[in-house]
Amino acid sequence: MSIELYAQRRQRLAQAMGPQDIAIIPTAPTRVRNRDADYPFRADSYFYYLCGFTEPDACLVIRADGHTTLFCQPKDLEREIWDGYRLGPEQAPSALGLEAALSVTQLDQQMPRLMANTESVWWPFATHDDLHHRIETWLQSVRSQVRLGVAAPQVQRDACAVLDEMRLIKDAHELALMRTAGRISAQAHIRAMQRSARMLRAGEDAREYHLEAELLHAFREHGAEGPAYTSIVAAGANACVLHYRADRAAVRDGDLVLIDAACEYMGYASDITRTFPANGRFSGPQADVYALVLASQEAAIAATRAGARFDDPHDAATRVLAQGMLDLKLLDANAVGNLDDVLNSRAYARFYMHRTGHWLGMDVHDCGAYQDPDPEAPRITVPNPTGGDPITKRVSRVLQAGMVLTIEPGLYVRAATDVPEAFHDIGVRIEDDAVVTAQGCELLTRDVPVGMQEIEDLMR
Ligand code: GLY
Ligand code: MN
Ligand code: MN
Repeated sequence: MSIELYAQRRQRLAQAMGPQDIAIIPTAPTRVRNRDADYPFRADSYFYYLCGFTEPDACLVIRADGHTTLFCQPKDLEREIWDGYRLGPEQAPSALGLEAALSVTQLDQQMPRLMANTESVWWPFATHDDLHHRIETWLQSVRSQVRLGVAAPQVQRDACAVLDEMRLIKDAHELALMRTAGRISAQAHIRAMQRSARMLRAGEDAREYHLEAELLHAFREHGAEGPAYTSIVAAGANACVLHYRADRAAVRDGDLVLIDAACEYMGYASDITRTFPANGRFSGPQADVYALVLASQEAAIAATRAGARFDDPHDAATRVLAQGMLDLKLLDANAVGNLDDVLNSRAYARFYMHRTGHWLGMDVHDCGAYQDPDPEAPRITVPNPTGGDPITKRVSRVLQAGMVLTIEPGLYVRAATDVPEAFHDIGVRIEDDAVVTAQGCELLTRDVPVGMQEIEDLMR
C-alpha cells in the first residue's frame, strides 16, 4: 500500500477541519489478558486508516494544513530484544510519509505546545477510555499560559464524524483487501464443511472445535491475521443461540451446523455465515427452512444497489421470511393474521430477531451512520423492538457505490409446543459480504456456495 494513499486520507480529514484546528488520533492500548500475557495487539482502526502503522503506543497529531506528527515508541535495544523491532521517530517520517515524528515519551510535554493557538481539537469521541482525561490535562496546561498571550482551543469536535463518512466508502485498495479476506474465509468454510462430512462418514466423534480448527488453519494458511471476530460454530440447537461460540458440543448425524466465522486480512474484516447438514445431506424440514432463508437472502441481494436505502434489503428479506413463517405454519395465521399483520406487529421477530446487515470494513460492525445524514430527510415511526414507545427517526441512508455491507437473514426455531416439531431446534443463517455498485452489488464471499445442491456436492 502506497504511503501516498494514507497522506491523501489525512489531507481529507485536515480539509474538513477549520484552518486553526488540530486532530489527535491515538492507536489502541495494549491490554493485559492475565498476569504477564497480553491480548494480541491490534492497531486502532482510525489510526491505522490514517497511517498504516501497526506498533502500539503511538499517536497521530494532524494540523489543518495536513502537517502530521507521529508520536511513537523510541528505539530501545533492550526492549526490542524482548518485544521486537521498533521503527523509531528517526525513521518514521520517511518510512510512513509523515512530516515529523517524536518519541511517545514526549507526548504529554509536547501536546500543550501543539495545541497552543488552535481553535478546535478533533479527537475520536468515546473510543479510548482515558483520552478525554489526557486532553483535559493538556488543555489545562495550555490555559495556564494564556497570560503569556497563548490562545487555548475553545471547541472539541468528534473526529469520528468525518472519519466514519470517509471509511464508509471503500477505495480500490480497501476493496482489493476485502476481496482477499472474503476469498480466504470462503475457503475456510469449505474446509469446515468437508471435515464435518468426512468425520461423520468415518464414524468419528466430531466436535465443534474440530470444525473451528479447520477455519483457523485456512485463515493462517492464506496469510490472514486470524478471525475478524469470535467464531461461531454451532451444532444442532446451538444454532438458535445468536452469540454462541465454537465450543465442545458434538456434531451429530442429522444436525445442521451453523458457522459464522471469517478472517481479518491486512486489517480488513470479512463476515460469512453458512449453515449445512453435518452429514452432507439436508433433511426435508431442514431444506424447507434453508430454502426460505435463501429466498429471503436473494430478495435482500436484489434490493441492494446504489440509490436504494440501507433498510431496503432488510425489509425485502423480512417480507419473504414472514410469508414463509405463515406457509410453514411456524406462525398460526388464525392467531397472527396475514402477512401485513405479521409485519406490522413484528410477530416474525420470534424467529427472526436481528437485522439483515451492517457495514463491514476494518471493523466487522464497521463505522458509519445508518440513518440518512441529511437533517431534512423524511422521518418514519417504527415499532420499538424492545417494547417501549414507537421510535421516530430519519429514514435509513441511501446506499452509494463503494459501501460494503453484509446480507445475513436467518431463521431460528427454538423448541416450543406451539411450533411444528419437525422444525424444532433448526437455526439457519446465510451471510455474505456485498459491495454496493451502481447496478446492484458484488458479493465477495461466494467462493463458498449457498445452494443446497452445491453444498451437498462439495460435502460428498
Ligand atoms: N459475525 C458477526 C455478525 O454477523 O454480525
Ligand atoms: Mn454480520
Ligand atoms: Mn457474521
